[in-house]
Order: sequence, then structure tokens, then C-alpha cells
Amino acid sequence: MGKNTTTSSSSASPAGGSGGALFKTKAGVIAATLGSAVGLGSIWRFPAEAQANGGGAFLLLYLACVLVLGIPVMLAETSLGRAGRADAVGSYMKLAPGKHWWIAGALGVLASYLIISFYMVVAGWTLQYLWDSISGALYDGAVSESALALESTFHHRMERYIGSDMAPLISTFVMIALNAGVLMMGVQKGIERASNIMMPLLFVLLLIFSIYALTLPGAGEGLEFFFRPDFSKITWSVAANALGQTFFSLSLGIGILITYASYYPSSTNLVSTSVTVSVLTTFVAVMMGVIIFPTVFSFNLDLSQLRGTTLVFVTLPEVFSQMPGGRWWSVLFFLLLLVAALTSTISLSEVSILFVQKRFRRSRVAATLIMMCPLFLFSALCSLSFGSLADLKLFGLTIFNFLDTFTTNWLLPVCAFCTVIFMGWFAPRGTLRDQVTDRGTVATRLYPAICFIVRWVAPVLILVILITSI
Ligand code: PFF
Repeated sequence: MGKNTTTSSSSASPAGGSGGALFKTKAGVIAATLGSAVGLGSIWRFPAEAQANGGGAFLLLYLACVLVLGIPVMLAETSLGRAGRADAVGSYMKLAPGKHWWIAGALGVLASYLIISFYMVVAGWTLQYLWDSISGALYDGAVSESALALESTFHHRMERYIGSDMAPLISTFVMIALNAGVLMMGVQKGIERASNIMMPLLFVLLLIFSIYALTLPGAGEGLEFFFRPDFSKITWSVAANALGQTFFSLSLGIGILITYASYYPSSTNLVSTSVTVSVLTTFVAVMMGVIIFPTVFSFNLDLSQLRGTTLVFVTLPEVFSQMPGGRWWSVLFFLLLLVAALTSTISLSEVSILFVQKRFRRSRVAATLIMMCPLFLFSALCSLSFGSLADLKLFGLTIFNFLDTFTTNWLLPVCAFCTVIFMGWFAPRGTLRDQVTDRGTVATRLYPAICFIVRWVAPVLILVILITSI
């Protein structure tokens, strides 16, 4: 594989990742990258992690991780992508011809593919819940006054649905087809255009929800839980969880940013792009806290319900069923989640599509079909692991849980570790500096700190996450 490489280059060539395809506008670059970052991780995983890890203390650690680690690692990855101007594997091959670094890129492609297999299933559930909110079926018969009875109604509903084999399979397949449709249209007409439409919509929806949540009686108590840090809650494991959440929510470590940055025009300022995307993603996560905690406190719900699938598919429907006009709030919420999931699945899928396009010289449509068709099978296995394949266990976990644990706890930190070690120590001299500093004096002043973090701080902290998850 290493033999097929072109010569190493540290500067951005004008040709884009797919043989000339580049994002057209600065807004498109931000919207697509932000679309990748803001997904189920910020909307759903973040409030649950914050609740389980001490509220405000977790928020503080998360903010520190984004600032100290997230932005520099994002810069390392986008520098690699824009300098390589190829897929995750090809970018390593271009910067380190004849070496084995391409394996790190291949692991990224594998990780992103495995992650979409189960991510698509949850995205499919969102689609079904959106549909059921529109049709009203989700709330049929949910008239009980007692919170306990409502909770059990929605719990039952969720378990019946995800365990039913056929219905979740259909919605997962629809999600895969939707992704394939956008991806086949290409970088500008597909990814960029979809992100330009969906991201503003997502922010409008978030704004509507936060205004509503903040005006609920008792909202202050929820805000206090979320914003007041209790420093006694900070432990190594809370810190490791905040680090893991940073990687997950910023789409770091698995080749997405290498792939997307190969579509960045040479005029893109990597520092301002990374800072904008990280700040906006963090803003979305904080807004979700501002929405979820006041709501949970106002409706006197049990905080432990925020974990896992319960928050989105049980607790929130329970809340909506008690709100005036709740069905329409439910439509808006599942639309928000669907938009977030869709822009993220598009970016996850693009990693392997560009890989096939570049490594096997296929057209975009062929590459999309080659990568998306087997996904029907992999996602089906994940989906069925809540139904008829529930007893099929890998290392004691269902297929879905095994893939989730294996990719997010293992593969993701390993790939991120390789990226920072490569960009910090092994990429051709000056690659990181040229990419980071080519557009401005602020970037030039920040470069020594960024380089220090990429070389020393990030590898050590990523190793900590890895050891903690072991
Ligand atoms: N950043 C997106 C999210 O938070 O949902 C998508 C994503 C990328 C998820 C990378 C997980 C991951 F490892």
C-alpha cells in the first residue's frame, strides 16, 4: 500500500479530497464541520454524562478539555487532512510515503465504519419517534396522571419498538438511504448544501427549546445543578469521561476531520475554523444542559433517568405528554435530534466513501454504493441485537454494545493517539506549522502552545483515557 504514494508535501495543494472537490464557502466549511461535530453526542450523550458525573463539575472539566485538548487535536487532524488532500489512509501515505503510518488512517476508516453501524440504528429510532410524534401514535392512550404510570407506558413503548425487529430495521434502512442520497450528490451539492440548510435549523430549534425551558417554574434549581460546580465530585474517572466526551462530541480521532479538511479550500484559516466549531459545539452541549436540567427539575423527574436510551425515548416523551401542545414540542425535539444525527452520519460515512473513491479509484456514486450496501447488514445486526439477536454476545455484550464500547473506548483513543504522535513528531518538518500559521498572526503566536500540546499533552492525556477505560 505504501508504494502507491505521491511525494510528501507540507503545503495545501489546490486539488480537493475527491479530485478537485472542495467546500465552496467559508460558511460551508463551518456548517459541514459543525454538522459533523454536533450530533447525538452533544444533544443526548452530554446531558447524561453531565448528570452522571456531578453536573457543574463535569461541565467545567469538559470546557477545559475542549480548550486545552480538543482545539489542538482538531488542528492536528485538519492539518493532516489539508496537507494530505486525500482520504484518511491516503493523507498519511502522502505525508509518510513508504512508512506504515497509513495503518493509523485505516484504523480510522474502520472505526468510523463500525461507529456508523450502530449510530445509524439510533438515528433510525429518532426518525420513527419523529414520525410517531407527527401522527400522534406516540401519545395515543398516554393520559395517565401518575408520573410512574406514564414512565412505564413509555418504557414499554420503547422496549416494544426497539425489540420488534422489523420496525427499527425499516427506519434504520431509511436513514442509510437518506445518507446515501445526500452523499451521492457530492461534496458541494450534497454535504455542504445539506449542512447549510440543517445547521441553522438546528440552532433555531435549540433556541426555541431553551426559551421554553428557562420559563418553566422551578427552572432555577435545574440551572443551579448544571452550572454550580461541586469540586468534591471531580475524580480521575470524571476527568476521563470529560475527555472521552470531548473526543466524541468534536468528532476527533477517527478520520472525519482528516477527510473533511481535505475539502477545505487553501484559504481556510484552520485556527479560526477549529475554534469556531469547538465553541459552537460546546455551546450546543451547554444549551442542551440548559434545556434538560430545568425541565427535569420542573417536572420532578428522577435525575437517574437521564442515562442511556431512557432520556430521549422515555423521559422526554413523558414530559411532552404532560405539556400543553406537547405533541408538537415532541415533533420539534425529534426533528432537532434527527437533523443533528443526519449531519453526523453523513460525516461518518464520508470517511469510508472517500477512502474507496481514492484508494480503489471509484466514482462517487459507486463508492457510496460500495460502502453503504454492506452497512445495511452491519446496522441490521446492531438493530436486531435489541430483538431476536439479543442473546448473541461478544465478550458478554450484545453486538450493539460491543461495537459501541470497542470503538469509543478503544479504537477512537488509539487512532487519536496515532494522529497526534504523527503530526507532533513524524510528519515532514513544518507540516503542522505551515498549516496552522498560514493565515494569520494570531495563529503564529499561538503555534508554540499548540505544538507543545500536540507533542506532549495530548498523547499523555489520550493514554490516560485509554488506561481508564481498560
Ligand atoms: N460528533 C458526532 C456526535 O457527537 O454524535 C458524531 C461522532 C463522531 C460520534 C465520532 C462518535 C464519534 F466517535
